[in-house]
Amino acid sequence: MIYKNKWVLLLSVFALILALSACGGGNDANNGANTGTNNGANTETPAENNGNAVVNTAEAESLYGKNCVSCHAVDLSGGNGPNLQHVGNELSFEQIKTQISNGGNGMPGYKGQLTDEEIDLLSAWLESHK
Ligand code: HEC
Repeated sequence: MIYKNKWVLLLSVFALILALSACGGGNDANNGANTGTNNGANTETPAENNGNAVVNTAEAESLYGKNCVSCHAVDLSGGNGPNLQHVGNELSFEQIKTQISNGGNGMPGYKGQLTDEEIDLLSAWLESHK
């Protein structure tokens, strides 16, 4: 039982770290105005602010949680799939997008399963993980 509590704590810490790193990380995507802490009112595409895909972290995390955690883990540390914690250092937005769309080598493709907007959002979010 103690363990269970620890896991809950651990998971919240991870979530916090994720939120923080997604907000603070790259200097390209974020414009400061629009970081994490959604107020609920405003879940619809802040993505179109400056053409350069401001990442809606909450929505990306939710998509990731539904589709990707089983292989890449809650904290992006990997499992069946590779670690994605610094995937933005290795792959470009386009490469990440191609991977999510087409999959390959054990990863399913998400084209047709997720919308283009959702794939873009996930790609931008992952690309911001430097
Ligand atoms: C069934 C397990 C599985 C699921 C579910 C899955 N992946 Fe993967 N993913 C993999 C595997 C395995 C690879 C390695 C593929 C390769 O080596 O070519 C991979 C590779 C990747 C890569 C490239 C990483 C790199 O360093 O080359 C990205 C980005 C990625 N996945 C994102 C996602 C996202 C986003 C989702 C959810 C929409 C997702 N994956 C769902 C198994 C999975």
